[in-house]
Amino acid sequence: MRLVVVKDKKEMNAFVGDMIAEVIRAKPEACLGLATGSTPEGVYEYLSELYRSGKLDFSRVSSVNLDEYIGLPKGSPHSYAHYMETKLFGNINIDRNNAYVPCGYGNIREETERFNSILQKKPRDIQLLGVGSNGHIGFNEPSRALHSLAHVVTLKEKTRFDNSRFFGSIDEVPAQAITMGLRGILGAEKVVLAASGRYKKDAIQAMVANDEITTDVPCTFLKMHIDFTLVVDEELAGIRS
Ligand code: GLP
Repeated sequence: MRLVVVKDKKEMNAFVGDMIAEVIRAKPEACLGLATGSTPEGVYEYLSELYRSGKLDFSRVSSVNLDEYIGLPKGSPHSYAHYMETKLFGNINIDRNNAYVPCGYGNIREETERFNSILQKKPRDIQLLGVGSNGHIGFNEPSRALHSLAHVVTLKEKTRFDNSRFFGSIDEVPAQAITMGLRGILGAEKVVLAASGRYKKDAIQAMVANDEITTDVPCTFLKMHIDFTLVVDEELAGIRS
């Protein structure tokens, strides 16, 4: 694992954004594994700016998103499809036919099969990740067993509570989601996880304090990846207990 400590969010966005840009410059038809949540927002702004200033071209890039809530109506402003459209896809010249976000309504069993077949057909050159306060990656929640394939997951109350800040209340946060599994995440050529803020402390400590891997903290599985970069800000890096 490569641990990178950056000063603040601005430096984090530039560092992670440049990592992604480098992958695209080296391979214009790269496939990106993309994440949602508040952490990647600034990274997407940074990448959008590289595009606007003519420094990066997404015309041959494809992408696969990590997850989506189940049960939100089509076009819901809370859906990750809407997030991706407003934060990134609408700002760059990616071909929408090559940008896959799992669909959280309709026949979910069929969608899960579709997700798995896309993961197989489109190996990711880089996977961008955030982390939940309970150590979830994508929506792979702490559990007795984790899944390797894309699957439907029942969200933990903690996750619904954390994510309720994007909704009106916790009751509006869907109970289930569809997510990429561990094989999909660890199958990417490179993996980069960005984290900032005190409430991520336990998850980050579980990654850096020792070499243990546990299904209780799913992000610890990233220690197995040969090209994994963990980017944290000074505040998070400095927290000892
Ligand atoms: C959601 C997403 C995760 C993300 C997490 C943390 O639960 N499914 O992929 O990493 O939120 O988000 P944030 O960056 O907002 O803390």
